Amino acid sequence: MLLKTLLPLLLTLPALLASPQYKKPTPQPPAGFVYPKGRELFLDGKKWYFAGTNTYYLYYAEREDVDALFADAKKLGLKVVRTWLFSDGVGDEKLNEKGEIIWFQRMNTTTKQIEYNDNVDSGIGRFDYVIASAKKHGIKVLPVFTNNWRNFGGIDWYVGAFNQTGHQVGYHSDFYQYEPIKAAYKKYVSWILNRTNTITKTKYKDDPTIFGWELVNEPRCKGDGTPWSTPNPAVCSGTSKVIVNWVDEMSTHLKSLSKHHLVLVGDEGYFNRPSGPSYNYCWSDLWDGSSGSDFEAFLKLPNIDVGTFHSYFDDAWVQDDYQYYNQNKFPGADLDPYFSNNTLTWIREHDAAGKKIGKPVILEEIGVPYLVGYSGYNFGFDERRVNDMPKFNDAVYKSGLAGSLYWQLNSKWKSSPTGWYQGVDSHSVFINSPEIDIVITNHAKKMASKNK
Ligand SMILES: *[C@@H]1O[C@H](CO)[C@@H](O)[C@H](O)[C@H]1NC(C)=O
Ligand SMILES: *[C@@H]1O[C@H](CO)[C@@H](O)[C@H](O)[C@H]1NC(C)=O
Ligand SMILES: *[C@@H]1O[C@H](CO)[C@@H](O)[C@H](O)[C@H]1NC(C)=O
Ligand SMILES: *[C@@H]1O[C@H](CO)[C@@H](O)[C@H](O)[C@H]1NC(C)=O
Repeated sequence: MLLKTLLPLLLTLPALLASPQYKKPTPQPPAGFVYPKGRELFLDGKKWYFAGTNTYYLYYAEREDVDALFADAKKLGLKVVRTWLFSDGVGDEKLNEKGEIIWFQRMNTTTKQIEYNDNVDSGIGRFDYVIASAKKHGIKVLPVFTNNWRNFGGIDWYVGAFNQTGHQVGYHSDFYQYEPIKAAYKKYVSWILNRTNTITKTKYKDDPTIFGWELVNEPRCKGDGTPWSTPNPAVCSGTSKVIVNWVDEMSTHLKSLSKHHLVLVGDEGYFNRPSGPSYNYCWSDLWDGSSGSDFEAFLKLPNIDVGTFHSYFDDAWVQDDYQYYNQNKFPGADLDPYFSNNTLTWIREHDAAGKKIGKPVILEEIGVPYLVGYSGYNFGFDERRVNDMPKFNDAVYKSGLAGSLYWQLNSKWKSSPTGWYQGVDSHSVFINSPEIDIVITNHAKKMASKNK
């Protein structure tokens, strides 16, 4: 009797103690909220594997164009749309229908205080329509609060705005460390979660149309411009815990405001491991921690519910000589074996890491760029894309990953004279492209079939 009951306990105790990521199970949230259980996501008691897309520009799109995107996403069977929820400062801002600057927050250099713009035409209120339209189409939104890169403000905006108002900051990574900037980020998040949607009358923090909240797009210790992007060598190292600590603090802040929503990081999935797996021709910051980012440490944090990773072995992740080699060495059917092998390895590595930690993981950005002939708009077949995307989709389908989101779907803009608008890049897949089923629709069906 004694032995019988004690033995299993003795056997499981060391396992529990050895696993710092142990987390108490989340109780089932109110109807309509997506929640994690083990490695899977659930909605209203049912499994919820999904496919989705990124479409970052919704906050400055006109209303009919927001509707068009969600209608297209629904038609393709997509469940989640990831999009930007920041427009900081004055610089590369967009203009609204009335020709006014769209901005959500900016630094007033006279008062040295950040100002917030609630307006439904020029401020954060524009997002009310994004949420309302998503809800109408049965799609969930994954909003991101800031950007590692300079587009539409982001981390370098915070550092620059504080530097220009007399604060002793100059490094990109001061964003993660300097208390007044951390307080400003928290205030921005609180302001948004406390907002009541003027259309749906629901507070953002209580709205199940929000799939989850994402802290920052692709956090790294360095950015992409000057002078605020200067890397601090102390932070750009595998031993630095600066970004992990920031993620811990901010995810805890979010959970304190919104206990039923998922909280995600938005990182690229860069590892911090003693030795790298075999990614051919890639920069070592993918695995050696020198990006300051750490996929596994993030996922082990108590208030991070779902792991995130991106996949871009075509571009900035690979060394230039590789790109040259790649373009010239492999014409014909197997266009790019390193590109596809690296991507498949990356998908498997993140699935395995998620399995070990026991939490859901999503591949939240993946795309295949046009190999040849990219000129801004391409509505035809691209040999590499139609060859590789099904392999990647299949790897996701067969893995334990909870979902994946293509970068990115572009809809026809009713408000644009040409029918298409900026926000298009070399990875874009167009709603009327003959590739759409191969790249998106077939995968959405297969992911949905996992819920039966
Ligand atoms: C900054 O704040 C002052 C004082 O409230 C105000 O008069 C001024 O218009 C603001 N500046 C800008 C650019 O909004
Ligand atoms: C602002 O940043 C610049 C460039 O990094 C630096 O030289 C300057 O000292 C910073 N200002 C303050 C007040 O720290
Ligand atoms: C939340 O919103 C209410 C009403 O709009 C406001 O009175 C309150 O000060 C806000 N709280 C925070 C923390 O922003
Ligand atoms: C890609 O992976 C396949 C299957 O594992 C292997 O046979 C092939 O040699 C790899 N190609 C390259 C270029 O590494």
